Amino acid sequence: MKRIGLKNMGIGLIMWLIYGSLYAQHDIETRIDKLLSEMSLRQKIGQMNQLNACKPDEKLYQQIRNGEVGSILNAEDPVLLNELQKIAVEESAAGIPLLFARDVIHGFKTIFPIPLGQAASFNPGLVEEGARIAAIETAENGIRWTFAPMMDISRDPRWGRIAESFGEDTYLTEVMGIAMVKGLQGNDLSDPSSVAACAKHFIGYGAVEGGRDYNVSYIPERQLRSVYLPPFEKALKEAGCATVMTSFNANDGIPPSASKFLLTDILREEWGFDGVVVSDWASVSMMVQHGFCENKKDAAQKAVNAGLDMEMVSECYINHMEQLIAEGKVKEETIDRAVRNILRLKMRLGLFEQPYTPLDKKKKAYSESHLQAAKKVAEESFVLLKNQDDLLPLGKNIKKIAVIGPLADAPHDQLGTWVFDGEKEMTRTPLCALKEHYGNQVDIIYEAGLSFSRDTDTGNFSKAVKAAKEADVTLLFIGEESILSGEAHSLASLNLVGAQSELLEKLTETGTPLVTILMAGRPLTIEKEINLSHAVLYAWHPGTMGGPAIVDVLSGNSFPQGKLPVTFPRVTGQIPIYYNHEKIGRPAKKTEMLLNDIPPEAKQSSLGNTSYYLDAGFDPLYPFGYGLSYTTFEYSNLKITRNKLSPSDTLEVNITLKNTGKREGCETVQLYISDLYASVSPVVKQLKAFRKVWLNPGESRQVTFEIPVRDFGLWDINMQYTVEPGAFEVMIGGNSQQGETARFNVN
Ligand code: NOJ
Repeated sequence: MKRIGLKNMGIGLIMWLIYGSLYAQHDIETRIDKLLSEMSLRQKIGQMNQLNACKPDEKLYQQIRNGEVGSILNAEDPVLLNELQKIAVEESAAGIPLLFARDVIHGFKTIFPIPLGQAASFNPGLVEEGARIAAIETAENGIRWTFAPMMDISRDPRWGRIAESFGEDTYLTEVMGIAMVKGLQGNDLSDPSSVAACAKHFIGYGAVEGGRDYNVSYIPERQLRSVYLPPFEKALKEAGCATVMTSFNANDGIPPSASKFLLTDILREEWGFDGVVVSDWASVSMMVQHGFCENKKDAAQKAVNAGLDMEMVSECYINHMEQLIAEGKVKEETIDRAVRNILRLKMRLGLFEQPYTPLDKKKKAYSESHLQAAKKVAEESFVLLKNQDDLLPLGKNIKKIAVIGPLADAPHDQLGTWVFDGEKEMTRTPLCALKEHYGNQVDIIYEAGLSFSRDTDTGNFSKAVKAAKEADVTLLFIGEESILSGEAHSLASLNLVGAQSELLEKLTETGTPLVTILMAGRPLTIEKEINLSHAVLYAWHPGTMGGPAIVDVLSGNSFPQGKLPVTFPRVTGQIPIYYNHEKIGRPAKKTEMLLNDIPPEAKQSSLGNTSYYLDAGFDPLYPFGYGLSYTTFEYSNLKITRNKLSPSDTLEVNITLKNTGKREGCETVQLYISDLYASVSPVVKQLKAFRKVWLNPGESRQVTFEIPVRDFGLWDINMQYTVEPGAFEVMIGGNSQQGETARFNVN
């Protein structure tokens, strides 16, 4: 009886939830109908206008009062936000609350590692937790919309915005994007701690030519659908991401802010998206510079007719839309559709019920649990690139440590790009953390050598060298200042800036073991520096708690477990270089001649007749998925349960992973699939699953993956997503280039 009762209660609850949410949705649409019927055309267009309130002035106040603003970005003081909200709600005729937005890219106050670093953790659970914390700290200030996650597939580290991305891989970006959206939006958008997420930049912004920001891209439809669109589709469908931002780049001559194909055919019709599409900063008026629109009025017309709901700051809509409607160039129903999307979001956020931010609540920013979560993400994001003679973790016998380099104590720079609200006063640097960790037991001698990463003044080198000579080990903190990556910070060379490389060389001459810790927003070309160092830890820009996280890993309190979310080139000339490229007709055999193998006055020849660089060889510096541990792992015994499958089946495959070293460790087991032959050239392999496995020394575990065969499809010759019959290969290993393989067939 009891069990039946419980079961009934369970069913009742599910029915209540389904009907409840359908009713709530129906209720929202009815409320929107009513609102729309009462709003003037000007008020409707006002909802589609987002303005910047960095320095709010009387003009802005008046625009809000007139109902000419739907959303505000870049204001963060809750007192000001309440003041602006009061005008919107109490003084404007329609009384529709404003939606406040801000770029919270990797934390609000408590800063987490840059998203590229978060991706290196291969731990979506942690990324979700970090985003939840970011949302709590954001929402308690009255901001309910953020422009994250950035899901641009980024295969060019010259592009400064690679720092904000999850790297080069579509699957990893999908997983991390979903995690971040879930964390930001929480269980229900109407929860006051939820922040609407924004999948950006739609689309192909990471593929700008030469990595030059704001440039053009040329992504054909098949590649768009296979590589660039899936993370967006997943974020919308699987995580309910509330908004999408269009990108700056014109793709194949068409700016996404005016692409009906992207904004209506794909987003609305194929994917059924009912959230808000916002432009990027002035990307509507920018279409005039693109030469795609004659003037701002033309830009407004093209954007709205393509399906762009809200315009960020360039005011083409508010200034020209009424006339466009009067001239019949835009239909009022097009406006109604856009405004409906915006009002729906405001209602889902509960803004009509709770437009104001309580000012008397104790703030949670920088609370201990937030700081510890930021430390955990940082720890898991670090990638150990080299560890000669097991120099790391640092031995207990060490009595003197030389701490050198411009980033050892750089509280601002370790936070990384896109930090508006996190304060450097709250940052814990490696230097402080080392002193705290070792107390009186170890002598810490600090000599920066250079005062910032671009510094070329070698005047203090001798002090740094003296410190290194006296020490048992040298810890050198180098890389990039935070301002060198992020928006509008593309680089043509990825070598270490300033005199950092010279500093490193001088330190190696001392003979003291050298551990190099790199903090950067992107992969750097550091082959020489890696060769000269005994151990190298890539720490990205690790955020507020970067210092203690680094010290815990170096000292062995925890261990490195990050894997590269992007291929590291040897030289910039190898870019683009990424693991999941299409198959080519003449792949390198890797036995071909290199530059210095060619004899003088050699006769014209095509050498190996394969695809590679004579001067840079065949391989990157490190492949996607690479990362060492303090222990070693062995993969063996890969087994496929059934190797004849249909497209509706599930591939079940398992492998044995053994910790063959002397320390505990965590390995990210990666599974890649190759379609060996298809109606269009397939890619060589693609990551399809991964699992983090923690093992004690000597311990083995069988790791099982179950993946629907449907996931192994491609956009075929007829531009249909299809799993084509034929042979496939599965590879499981610790990076994209090494692993155990087996074949299976799909019929
Ligand atoms: C421009 C950037 O491209 C975008 O990512 C950001 O969200 C907006 N500015 C707003 O700051």
